[in-house]
Amino acid sequence: MKALLLENIHQSAKVNLENAGFEVELLPHALNEQELSEKIKGVSILGIRSKTQVTAKVVDSADELQCVGAFCIGTNQIDLEHCKKNGVAVFNAPFSNTRSVVELALAEMIMLMRQIPEKNARLHTGEWSKTAHGSNEVRTKNLGIVGYGNIGSQLSVLAESIGLNVYFYDLEEKLALGNAIQCHSLDALLEISDIVSMHVDGRVSNDLLISEREFSKMKDGVVFLNLSRGKVVDIEALTNNLKSGKIKGAAVDVFPIEPKANSEQFESPLQQFPNVILSPHVGGSTEEAQVDIAGFVPTKLARYIQQGNTQNSVNFPNLQLPSFEGSHRLIHIHKNVPGIIAKINNILAKHNINILGQHLKTDEQIGFVILDINKEYDRTLLKELEDIEHTIRFRVLY
Ligand code: NAI
Repeated sequence: MKALLLENIHQSAKVNLENAGFEVELLPHALNEQELSEKIKGVSILGIRSKTQVTAKVVDSADELQCVGAFCIGTNQIDLEHCKKNGVAVFNAPFSNTRSVVELALAEMIMLMRQIPEKNARLHTGEWSKTAHGSNEVRTKNLGIVGYGNIGSQLSVLAESIGLNVYFYDLEEKLALGNAIQCHSLDALLEISDIVSMHVDGRVSNDLLISEREFSKMKDGVVFLNLSRGKVVDIEALTNNLKSGKIKGAAVDVFPIEPKANSEQFESPLQQFPNVILSPHVGGSTEEAQVDIAGFVPTKLARYIQQGNTQNSVNFPNLQLPSFEGSHRLIHIHKNVPGIIAKINNILAKHNINILGQHLKTDEQIGFVILDINKEYDRTLLKELEDIEHTIRFRVLY
């Protein structure tokens, strides 16, 4: 089977897929819709990063495509529904760069508490300003984490190990790690925190989650970080509160509008403040994260192709199961309409085939079945299974 990897995905992804038995082509750049629609012919696995758009046209042009790997976290660039309707499973790397974001957040909060960004700027212009005034340790300070998911909870563990008191607020009930304390409202968290760090996801309702009202709830002299999504914070309100001195310092890695390429100019009212650390959406961008992604995603893709394992798929019902010694495995993907399983079982019974394992998972649109059968079968069986009405895809794995 052929794999096509675009956008300069780390070389080790190619090696990992080759070791799993695939023939791999690695291209350094993205392809546009037309180019990809032609190039996708004969490709079973497509690997992309954030620039390649996997549109309905691309999926419809594919003749062999089984799965798409997003070698990043976001999957907005992929038409997930259309992939699903066509039996194409999509995988991503949801926590390969979690640690990278956490390390940057920790480093930035320490820098801001010590007022290093301003001192650095002054020293670069020759001004020596040695003073302990306004310079604080993070030890025993209250860190308020908004969003206790992969990143928020990992930050919680590392922050606590260097002596911060950790509080968090999440929409969901979460297991508090270590000595972290869950707050039951955002306001309660904001009121208690010396440092507020944003780690919520990009759902629409989080747009402008932190605006003038929320800043007014925070302590005077708060340190504020946003390494989550640009739209979560009202930049005008952040600017006003930096101007007034309410905020001691801020670190911002993500912006409501970001340049699409390195050649584009970046502009923000935050550029006027020496006590603001600005970084170009690089929280998760480390060499280690790239290597991790290049190991994680190929494993998911190969397991799907070879075992039918959909664990962590972003658009398919999640299913994983051990294989039986000496069995054959078939996967059947169909529209979620009543009676399909009965039809599958009738066909198997007619051919005198014993089912060793049968696992079905459905969502509103599709049903995904893994069948382990115990004996040789002939081609008529496969044809009959494939011909069941509403079948999207049928495949013999081994
Ligand atoms: P996640 O999905 O594991 O966690 C998000 C958490 O936020 C969930 O527990 C969710 O329940 C919670 N949440 C959502 N809305 C909330 C609200 N209004 N109030 C309180 N809690 C809320 O996501 P993960 O992996 O931890 O990523 C967090 C954010 O970091 C995402 O927005 C992601 O896009 C961003 N990110 C940024 C990177 C960068 O380079 N700066 C790199 C990686 C992720």
